[in-house]
Amino acid sequence: MTNIKLQRDYGCWLNYDLIDDAGLRNKYLTQLQSISVTGKGFIQDSIKEELKRGLEGLLGNNVEIVQDDKTEVSILVAKNHGDIKQIKEEGFQISSTMEESHRRIVITAKDDRGLLYGCFAFLRLLELGVELDEINLIDNPKNRLRMINHWDNMDGSIERGYAGNSIFYDQYELVDDLDRIKDYARLLASIGINSVVVNNVNVHEKESQLIGDKLSITQTLAEIFHQYGISVFLSINYASPMEFGDLETADPLDPSVQDWWNKKVEQIYAKIPDLGGFLVKADSENRPGPFTYGRNHAHGANMLGRALKPFKGVLIWRCFVYNCHQDWRDLKTDRARAAYDHFKPLDGQFDDNVILQIKNGPMDFQVREPVSPLLGGLERTNQVLELQITQEYTGQQKHLCYLVPQWKEILNFDTFAQGPGSTVAKIIEGKLVPQEYSGIAAVVNVGNDRNWTGHTLAQANLYGYGRLAWDPELSAEQITEEWVVRTFGRERETMESITKILLTSWEVYENYTTPLGIGWMCNPNHHYGPSVEGYEYSKWGTYHRADHFGIGVDRTVKNGTGYTGQYHPENASRYESMESCPEELLLFFHRVPYTYLLKSGKTLIQHIYDTHFLGVEQVEQYLAVWSSLQDKINEQTYLHILGRLEGQLEDAKEWRDVINSYFYRISRIDDALHRKIY
Ligand code: GCU
Repeated sequence: MTNIKLQRDYGCWLNYDLIDDAGLRNKYLTQLQSISVTGKGFIQDSIKEELKRGLEGLLGNNVEIVQDDKTEVSILVAKNHGDIKQIKEEGFQISSTMEESHRRIVITAKDDRGLLYGCFAFLRLLELGVELDEINLIDNPKNRLRMINHWDNMDGSIERGYAGNSIFYDQYELVDDLDRIKDYARLLASIGINSVVVNNVNVHEKESQLIGDKLSITQTLAEIFHQYGISVFLSINYASPMEFGDLETADPLDPSVQDWWNKKVEQIYAKIPDLGGFLVKADSENRPGPFTYGRNHAHGANMLGRALKPFKGVLIWRCFVYNCHQDWRDLKTDRARAAYDHFKPLDGQFDDNVILQIKNGPMDFQVREPVSPLLGGLERTNQVLELQITQEYTGQQKHLCYLVPQWKEILNFDTFAQGPGSTVAKIIEGKLVPQEYSGIAAVVNVGNDRNWTGHTLAQANLYGYGRLAWDPELSAEQITEEWVVRTFGRERETMESITKILLTSWEVYENYTTPLGIGWMCNPNHHYGPSVEGYEYSKWGTYHRADHFGIGVDRTVKNGTGYTGQYHPENASRYESMESCPEELLLFFHRVPYTYLLKSGKTLIQHIYDTHFLGVEQVEQYLAVWSSLQDKINEQTYLHILGRLEGQLEDAKEWRDVINSYFYRISRIDDALHRKIY
């Protein structure tokens, strides 16, 4: 069997290929010959390893690691070097000076993490071809928490995983290949991730053992991640005191329950002193929670937060709480309202080490949703935005759907919480409302496939997430070009073609799947492929209510579920009227006749037909562009992506034909262009 670790796709954006521009390489070579890393510790060891590996790869020459910081040393990595006033926690400064005719690069920070991020950033700059004398930058992370959530189960499966099995667990034990976990930690640290939740939010009985008999697994994971400055968090089962058979209640106000948690947390921290804390999914999709005892979410979260507090741990509580046993005949209940209805009244009641984790939209990671009104609704609560890197509803890493443009829209969304400019980015940066902790989390897309992410181009989603978590102001174009160069090299045509494909792929996916914000027309349970009525008569609260007249859910205050009223007035009134509602969200907010004229001058039905035909043509174009790159991309990667695109094309046709036929059959309105509809 070939060793997957030697394959390109395994290395992701850290392959550090020899710089092919010989002039540039020689310039770097003459100036970068020795490294000195002052200070001692796991992170310093990682820094030495990373710099050596990166530089030797890029320059094709040995690089010496020296002990002292004499002026001849070309790269000095040292904490608190020079004027560091502008460097913040986990930020860094890289400067380039000439000293006695030697070029010297100094990478400095206030803490170990900052040093590590500075070194990864330096390698990135070299790979992008930056001139050494132009390097002079200070870069501070905008978000304090930059988290990855794993939905890995201890049996080795991954909930909503599309890239093989868990890289952590196999049959309730730790995997044998710990080096792969280290390689993963390297990838995450290289994009600035500082926290990782290592198990699924749905914590079944056996998974609870990560805080019980199998605590040593958590400990080993924490030690590996620690070398790369990443704190481990655990998802816990809210009813653990009962799951472990110790108590008959999990009532947060019961002193025996509080005591149980206090002791449990103490035990855990005795083994893992730098554990980040817990993540909890409670009273959500049949998971236990405080509602059973007539208590609210603040009671539940604070009880756990207080147990963690003496150890500087934090408690993250998810807001994905809604009625998953709805009667589809009930036209009044609106799942979209649920998070706000549950959590807005509790604003200000959570302890300072408790954070609410809020999904980007009010439903569940659909290809297009409005931004959750809870973001901008909470004024006195720590908040973390939750995104989904794993492509549950966006093609499951069989289809290309690059999500950075979607995330940019979310981050740039103006909530008007404190007047114009109150963007989601500012809220999670903690700039708008005072928060002890804030930031961003995302459900990751990796598994033990040789390329980590199933589709090699889906690596770009992981990369892009990390870069945006560090700095939400980076443009989608910059992030994408960076990733493409680091993955495929700097050849112009390759770079431009892949960048363009990535940047348009979200829209293309939307074109051939669900129109104008309606979502959900997928197969129930596994969420792959079209099934227009798959969720229509179910209990999940996800209906499109299509009939022969029109489609969409009236969520207005005037005639509908009142959801629009959860936004601040500027957005509320924009969404309330069909005329001012952004068209890409029209069917989310309104019930619209097929004959309604859109701004393009087309009727709604014609828009549906046209976008579905267009989406398939766009995937055909992707295939043509990809085929033209055959000679420029290594064969294995080329063929792999070709295969994925061919599969995507077949599936896109299926989506097109199912959706178009459904709407043609119920509306009986012909396609103006008389294309084939079944
Ligand atoms: C979705 C997803 C589930 C997941 C849930 C969650 O409903 O399909 O698999 O558990 O979100 O975010 O908790």
